[in-house]
Amino acid sequence: MGAQRWFRRCLQRIAPEERTVHEIGAGDGHLASTTAQQISLARWTGFDLVSPPGDWPASWGWHTGDCLQSGHLCEAPVLVANLVLHHFNDSLLEALGKRIENGSVRYLIFNEPARDRRYVQTLRLGRLIGFSPVTLHDGTVSIAAGFQGDELAQTLGLSKQAWDWTYQLPFGGAYRMFARRL
Ligand SMILES: C[S@@+](CC[C@H](N)C(=O)[O-])C[C@H]1O[C@@H](n2cnc3c(N)ncnc32)[C@H](O)[C@@H]1O
Repeated sequence: MGAQRWFRRCLQRIAPEERTVHEIGAGDGHLASTTAQQISLARWTGFDLVSPPGDWPASWGWHTGDCLQSGHLCEAPVLVANLVLHHFNDSLLEALGKRIENGSVRYLIFNEPARDRRYVQTLRLGRLIGFSPVTLHDGTVSIAAGFQGDELAQTLGLSKQAWDWTYQLPFGGAYRMFARRL
């Protein structure tokens, strides 16, 4: 829930007519549908390896396949990703960064895991409330693949001349980056 509120707050900083959103790894469409219930959006297009969820609005867009192979990914003012980019290795992030640089994206809104050992300890405590070994394993892998400091912007290859970005590490294990093209 905290992440959805944060995405909404970021989008509210952007003029409504610019809120044409492309989402990397839109999955079951939850972020798009909850956001659309709260604020006005121009259009939302999901990019995912899987087909769109059954309730995806017909007036919105969806591209099934590897988002990095789609010529359209970076052709919207706003690019968002929720818990996806930590699945990409550095060379995929570099490729994404080049697409962003050469595209028309003006805002990046990314929520990923923070790479912080304290959250691995917290996760282990989850055993006490019944977390399964699979959940513990997946959580540990995700934290290890997460981000710290400026490294997401740096791996994407964003330059300080072209982009202004901030990141946050809120309590709970998230890494959140908001970037604006200058
Ligand atoms: C952990 S899920 C997150 C889904 C959703 N963003 C959410 O927060 O519930 C990662 C999603 O990214 C998608 N994905 C992974 N690699 C992708 C790629 N190269 N292109 C498009 N989608 C990708 C997966 O299919 C999956 O739906």
